[in-house]
Amino acid sequence: MLHQYEEEKGLLEEIEICLLLEGIYRHYGHDFRNYSYSSIRRRIWHRIRAERLRSISALQEAVLHDPGTMERLFSDFSINVTEMFRDPSFFLAIRRKVVPLLQNLPAIRIWHAGCSTGEEVYSMAILLYEEGLYDRCTIYGTDMNHRVLEQAESGSFPLQKMQLYTKNYLQSGGEEAFSEYYKVKGNQVAFHPFLSENIVFSQHNLATDHSFNEFHIIICRNVLIYFNEIMHQRVIQLFKDSLVASGFLGLGRKEGIHRNLQREAFEVIDPQEKIYRKM
Ligand SMILES: C[S@@+](CC[C@H](N)C(=O)[O-])C[C@H]1O[C@@H](n2cnc3c(N)ncnc32)[C@H](O)[C@@H]1O
Repeated sequence: MLHQYEEEKGLLEEIEICLLLEGIYRHYGHDFRNYSYSSIRRRIWHRIRAERLRSISALQEAVLHDPGTMERLFSDFSINVTEMFRDPSFFLAIRRKVVPLLQNLPAIRIWHAGCSTGEEVYSMAILLYEEGLYDRCTIYGTDMNHRVLEQAESGSFPLQKMQLYTKNYLQSGGEEAFSEYYKVKGNQVAFHPFLSENIVFSQHNLATDHSFNEFHIIICRNVLIYFNEIMHQRVIQLFKDSLVASGFLGLGRKEGIHRNLQREAFEVIDPQEKIYRKM
């Protein structure tokens, strides 16, 4: 009896979440319908508690009639955790296995999809500068959330993070004094303007937007984990279509390309670091 009750409650909750996400899509154009269900469910209940509401339906009403509530829920859905040279061994693999294959290209285009506040993008700029490639590169940093992009564009980060970032940088194969790349201003640091000269930040939503260029490298780390299977496939297809022949794709530690697609379209360059190359 109790089991049946729980099951029905779960089904009803699923219907309400589905209606909420459909409403958001139709009214605001933000498409969260193919995000991982468990993660989106957790975020929804977090917002319900924060707004002192009682049900998903009540949140739906608030979200549809009040753009402010929508904005807060949007922020909940956009999880922005990031750091410079995150998973240093990934950047080491880029230095050792990808950079040597780019040396003869006259112009190099790189896309960081879901770049959050930009730490990953500045890390790549430093790496490419040290490898003598930065002058030939354009790095596009995109995210669905315009607020994080504003922060990314400022090129300034909390001073207290620099100890961790210096450690990451050294582990990623960096050999310079990391502090040479920034100036301390109060409790923030500002990265040298030359690093952002070839960086373009802009809004792009992987759920609804199309490709906007052809790239030699696409990096999309710790973003696919928030998507369901349908969206995962869509985004990998988008990346495949957006890469030049023999272009590289780098994903996050817990992410990957599923076997059937991988076999047909990508070769694995580094299985641990999830670096692939379009065939
Ligand atoms: C956890 S952060 C990852 C940041 C960085 N790539 C890293 O690995 O450190 C995830 C980012 O993906 C963005 N994101 C989520 N869904 C997205 C979508 N549909 N299109 C573009 N960006 C999205 C979020 O706004 C967030 O900034």
